[in-house]
Amino acid sequence: MEQPTNRVFSGVQPTGNLHLGNYLGAIRHFVGLQETHECIYCVVDMHAITVWQDPAELARNTREVAAAYIAAGVNPDTQIIFNQSKVSAHAELTWVLNCVARIGWLNRMTQFKEKAGKNRENASVGLYSYPILMAADILAYRATHVPVGDDQKQHLELARDVAQKFNNDFGDNGGADFFPLPEPLIMGPATRVMSLRDGTKKMSKSDPSAMSRITLTDTPDDIAKKIRKAKTDPEPLPSELEGLKDRPEADNLVGIYASLAGISKEDVLKEHGGAAFSAFKPALAELANEKLSPITTEMARLMDDPAHIDAVLKNGAERASAIATPVLAEVKKIVGFI
Ligand code: TYM
Repeated sequence: MEQPTNRVFSGVQPTGNLHLGNYLGAIRHFVGLQETHECIYCVVDMHAITVWQDPAELARNTREVAAAYIAAGVNPDTQIIFNQSKVSAHAELTWVLNCVARIGWLNRMTQFKEKAGKNRENASVGLYSYPILMAADILAYRATHVPVGDDQKQHLELARDVAQKFNNDFGDNGGADFFPLPEPLIMGPATRVMSLRDGTKKMSKSDPSAMSRITLTDTPDDIAKKIRKAKTDPEPLPSELEGLKDRPEADNLVGIYASLAGISKEDVLKEHGGAAFSAFKPALAELANEKLSPITTEMARLMDDPAHIDAVLKNGAERASAIATPVLAEVKKIVGFI
C-alpha cells in the first residue's frame, strides 16, 4: 500500500461559537497548506457529542464549520471537506486503537481533566476516550501532517504513541511502519489565543462570557466593542519582545495583531511600541474587521443554502471514504480479523 508523504488531516468540533482562536490557530493555516499538500478537513461531529449537544443545533453547527472552512478559502473541489460521522472507518478504527492504547496514557491527558472538572465520575466515556478517536481520524488516512493550535499538542503526541505501538505490536504481521507518525504543525504567532477578559485563560467556545471571544459570526460593531473592552494593563506597548513578559493581555493582543497582519510580533512592536492601548485597540479592531468581515459575510451567504453545504459534505465523505476504507481493510488484516 502506497504511503503518502504530504497528506494533511485536521478537524474542528461543531460545538458553536467558532472563534478567533480556531481561525488563527487552525483554520487559517488550512488554507495555505492546500497549495503544497493533499488536505482532508473534517467537521468532527462525533467528537462534539462527547458532551451533550442539542440535535438541531449540532446539525446547524456542523454546516457552520463547513461554511467557515470554505469561506476562509479552502477549496472543496481540490481538497476534501466532510463530516466525521459519514465515514464509518473512524469509529471502526477507534475500536482497534482503543485496544492498542493504554489507560495510563489517557489518564495523563490534561484536556480531559479540565473538561471533566470535579465531576469526573459523571463525564461521558466518550469524553475520556476522545483522544483515541482523534488518533483514528488521522491514522485512517495515514496522514503525515496535522495543523492544530497549541492546545492539541498533547493529543497529537498520543496519536504518535498509538501509531508507534500499533506498528511495533503488529510488526511481524505487516504492521511495521504501517502508520506514519503524524507531525503536528503548530504555526504562526497565535498558536494559543487567550481570552479577552483574562490573558491567562485560553479563548474558548465554552467560556460563559461572550466578551471573552471574537466569533466568526460577530458584526464589526461587536468586534470593535469586544476589543475596546478587552482587559489590558495601564502601561503603553513595549518596543521589544522582552517587554511583553509577564503582561499576558498585552502579549495576547500583539499576537492577534501579528497573526491577522501576517507579520511577526517584533514587527508589530516596531510599529506600535510606545503606543497606549487607547491607540492600539482601534488599530487592532480595524485590522480584525478588515480580515474577518469577508469571511463572516461569505459564511452567512453559504449558510443560506444548507443544501449546497450538505452536497459538499456528501461528496467529501465519498472521497474520504475511498481513502480510509482500504486503510481500514489493511488494519483488519494486520490485526488478524478474517
Ligand atoms: P477544537 O474544535 O477545540 O478546535 C479546533 C482548532 O482550533 C484550535 N484552537 C485554538 N488555537 C489557538 N488558540 C485558541 N484559543 C484555540 N482554541 C482552539 C485547536 O487547537 C484546533 O486546532 N480535538 C480537536 C478536533 C479534532 C482534530 C482531529 C484535530 C478531532 N480530530 C484530528 C486535528 C486532527 C478539537 O477539539 O479542536
